[in-house]
Amino acid sequence: RVRTAILISGAGSNMAALIEASRAADAPFEVAVVISNKPDASGLTVAAALDVPVMAVDHRLFGKDREAHERAIDAVLMDHGVEVVALAGYMRLLTPWLVGRWNGLMLNIHPSLLPKYPGLDTHARALAAGDEEAGCTVHLVDEGVDEGPVLDQEAVPVLPFDTPETLAQRVLTAEHRLYPRALAAFCRGLH
Ligand code: GAR
Repeated sequence: RVRTAILISGAGSNMAALIEASRAADAPFEVAVVISNKPDASGLTVAAALDVPVMAVDHRLFGKDREAHERAIDAVLMDHGVEVVALAGYMRLLTPWLVGRWNGLMLNIHPSLLPKYPGLDTHARALAAGDEEAGCTVHLVDEGVDEGPVLDQEAVPVLPFDTPETLAQRVLTAEHRLYPRALAAFCRGLH
């Protein structure tokens, strides 16, 4: 099974969905380690409760040196024999150095139907545009922001009276189906 690391910054609900999926008998990936750039991310507590190794690599300890922070993360990835990296609500921009090291082996989930709405505030932007559907995308990470090749997407309807919060919740529920499916398909394709 493909040894996968999950990088988080927050609640880690996508991370939890991936960990649960990794425990299916036929799962093609296992979760080798969960890493957060925020030591107080609640997702770390969730992962530890699920018996997954966790590590915080606090970006604040590295000042403005983004690459030094990433080298520390990369050392953790090496220590755990990681083969694939899944970003799941990891809210730091990556430097070309880390992206290059994991070229073709790093996935991200983004809460929009890319190429629509890269970046932040995706749900407010979809509502402001009057879109009839929203959704989420799993893509390979390249040097652009939310720009790499799309692996899979799932759409959800925008409903009357949606707010960014109600739409975000509907998209997040779709993310929890999409990410395990997309990561499993990706890992099956590696062999
Ligand atoms: C998810 O909606 C994810 O798509 C989004 O953050 C949320 C994390 O939730 N990611 C981004 O916006 C990346 N720029 P989670 O921590 O509960 O998985």
